[in-house]
Amino acid sequence: MQIDKHNEQTFAIRHAAIDPAQIRIRRMTREDIEQVLEVERASFSQPWSADVYSATLLLPYAHYYVAELLTDGAGARIIGECGVRDIFGEGEITNVAVLPSFRGAGVAGRMLGTLLEESLEKGMQAFTLEVRAGNRPAIALYEKFGFQTEGVREGFYEEPVEDALIMWRRNAQ
Ligand SMILES: CC(C)(COP(=O)(O)OP(=O)(O)OC[C@H]1O[C@@H](n2cnc3c(N)ncnc32)[C@H](O)[C@@H]1OP(=O)(O)O)[C@@H](O)C(=O)NCCC(=O)NCCS
Repeated sequence: MQIDKHNEQTFAIRHAAIDPAQIRIRRMTREDIEQVLEVERASFSQPWSADVYSATLLLPYAHYYVAELLTDGAGARIIGECGVRDIFGEGEITNVAVLPSFRGAGVAGRMLGTLLEESLEKGMQAFTLEVRAGNRPAIALYEKFGFQTEGVREGFYEEPVEDALIMWRRNAQ
């Protein structure tokens, strides 16, 4: 998985709650890509490009989601995104990110919960992902959803160099 630019900052700051009724989780479409890139760029030093998203959304085994903040009269703004690829029944989670100013309010939890629930309905039995060894908010998020560290890829990440933890949630129910 990609590099977290805001790791320590995110760990230090927990934001005020957002009314859960203001958040909607739905499938990502091509029309969302521009706003999704804002989330990517704010979250990762090597963000995915529009081309990568366009190609990914065409894959029948790729399932991507956005979190929208619904605002009275002002439409909706995408504040989070995540996605999974179904590799022969194993869900490879590739992206989980929330705009920095909306972190700590339960948005990623809502997205990941929806992703896992719908992936289970699609028949995925286990889920895996990679995360920077020092990315404490993300590791805590994944552990909350039943992921456990099963391996380490030494020096996997660049800028700065850091180990990747390989996490799995197996025999998902
Ligand atoms: C990781 C990330 C997606 C979490 O998003 P978020 O919307 O802030 O997470 P939530 O508010 O839904 O928190 C859900 C759980 O995650 C964990 N968590 C989230 N932020 C945390 C923090 N700052 N410190 C410790 N645990 C944290 C907690 O277990 C939390 O559950 P709790 O509220 O019951 O304690 C967000 O910090 C982010 O976008 N980071 C940059 C991108 C990134 O690193 N993505 C992961 C790549 S592998």
